[in-house]
Amino acid sequence: MKKRKLTYANIEVSTLGFGAMRLPIINGDYSLIDETKATKMIRHAIDNGINYIDTAYPYHGGNSEILIGKVLKNGYREKVYLTTKLPCGNIKCYDDFSKIFNEQLKKLDVKYLDIYLLHAMNKKSWSKVHKLGVLDFLDNLKEQGKINQVGFSFHDNYEVFIEIIDSYDWDVCQIQFNYFDSEAENMLNYATDKGVDVIVMEPLRGGALVNDLPEEITTLFNNATTKRSPAEWGFRWLYNNEKVKLILSGMSTMEQVKENLKTFDNAVANSMTKEEKIMMKEVTQVFKDKILVPCTSCQYCMPCSYGVNIPLMFTTYNNYSMFGKSDKYKKQYQAWEKREENRFTADVCVGCRECEEKCPQNIIISERMLDVVKDLG
Ligand SMILES: NC(=O)c1ccc[n+]([C@@H]2O[C@H](COP(=O)([O-])OP(=O)(O)OC[C@H]3O[C@@H](n4cnc5c(N)ncnc54)[C@H](OP(=O)(O)O)[C@@H]3O)[C@@H](O)[C@H]2O)c1
Repeated sequence: MKKRKLTYANIEVSTLGFGAMRLPIINGDYSLIDETKATKMIRHAIDNGINYIDTAYPYHGGNSEILIGKVLKNGYREKVYLTTKLPCGNIKCYDDFSKIFNEQLKKLDVKYLDIYLLHAMNKKSWSKVHKLGVLDFLDNLKEQGKINQVGFSFHDNYEVFIEIIDSYDWDVCQIQFNYFDSEAENMLNYATDKGVDVIVMEPLRGGALVNDLPEEITTLFNNATTKRSPAEWGFRWLYNNEKVKLILSGMSTMEQVKENLKTFDNAVANSMTKEEKIMMKEVTQVFKDKILVPCTSCQYCMPCSYGVNIPLMFTTYNNYSMFGKSDKYKKQYQAWEKREENRFTADVCVGCRECEEKCPQNIIISERMLDVVKDLG
């Protein structure tokens, strides 16, 4: 297992980290982790070089932290750097910070965390916790030795990223980066220039870059000089970038753990050939050519007077076209459509066209909403 150094923390982490968000489950129940399988998988990963575990308060309905606490018994805690995240949505006042943090330590059954992240920061959640004094709270935890490093995980645009990263002396940040979401490289570069180490989440887009691939992409991979699985290509594209310090994968089977361990034995930066880089650009283009609506989720169109979540509708529609062979996105849309209250699906659109004046991409939103309803509804 190749390692890379986290600058501030001055520690060597395995280039592959274990994300405890997609553990094996029983009877399709997300909150019911198959503890026997999950324990074997995570301990096998640690025994074979993984030294970084990432979990969070809400994963597996709150049970991921408890499971990790059990897995790290019998000497495993000392072998890993442990990260969990503050669920900012659950915070209503300053006292909630420590209430939840103490609950997390108890669930994990540990005395301290190596890294503590503010979970899923976006403009709204950042503004809320910032005003409530989260930075003081983090400083206090550090002073008390309850956490060693602090950071945030992120889901919003570049401007918000800059606002957050410039607001504090962060040690790390966690961003969604993969060959499809390659525009996140601007965040990677900005953070690295500031000395903030970048940890990557969703390296395979939660499995979308691996499962049910379009035929054109399978052909490109099959024709490559060196044969690699789609997962290995996705990881290879990432570890080739020396600024990426650690890549988290939410492995759900022992086979995936074993394959990914093998892949990361060869995780050498700048090892991709020119030919491979061209192929990965072609693969990305196949996906991009399937984009149906050129929406960038800039949110300028929002709020819709009738409640439609316009960017979410177009993201789901594009995902359906690019990664939707298994009907996952259609099913998701139809579940939303069945909600009785606060409905935000495309069928709620009355065609008032108020939003169209605000769209920088000049999308005829009212007409495209009809397409969404026709194809997904
Ligand atoms: N902070 C945040 O807001 C946030 C958000 C997302 C994720 N995360 C963290 O980042 C971690 C990584 O993200 P992720 O779980 O989305 O990672 P990911 O690697 O993009 O997706 C994991 C999925 O990819 C597939 N996969 C992985 N290895 C494979 C292999 N060798 N062969 C075939 N398929 C393979 C599996 O899908 P199938 O089993 O379905 O085939 C697996 O469930 C998470 O587990 C979590 O800890 C954090």
